[in-house]
Amino acid sequence: MFAERCVGAPLLMPDSVARFTVSLAPELLASFDEVCAGKGYASRSEAIRDAIRDYLVAHRWDADGGGEEVVGTITLVYDHESRRTSDELLDIQHADHTHVLSTMHIHLDARNCLEVTVVRGTGAEVTALADGLISLRGVKFGRLVSATTGSGLA
Ligand code: NI
Repeated sequence: MFAERCVGAPLLMPDSVARFTVSLAPELLASFDEVCAGKGYASRSEAIRDAIRDYLVAHRWDADGGGEEVVGTITLVYDHESRRTSDELLDIQHADHTHVLSTMHIHLDARNCLEVTVVRGTGAEVTALADGLISLRGVKFGRLVSATTGSGLA
């Protein structure tokens, strides 16, 4: 069970904070505490702040029909022996080069490649780019991770 703040830890609170009460089932709170303790959070408040930030970032990607600027990563695992897949991945990234900031490529084994691409653009643009890459034949795993430019988050 979490104390609201870690005993003995320095009290590094912002100049002003808002406090609120949340009602939820005890089992849900117990599960939350268990996960947060496993992740090493010093307090329930810190875990809730991170959860709220995650929620806000996810919402930002959808806000105004995906019109706000976002950053993220697209992680792909694909079979490089399928030359068509490699060529198509490159073609898509070149065609959308203004949204591709950087790509890291790792040869996992003789056949499989891992590629992580950092992307920036509106939520709609970046999602469309990710969908185009992930849906290619030969891509075995694909995931778009929504991140944030950090602006507007406390
Ligand atoms: Ni490779």
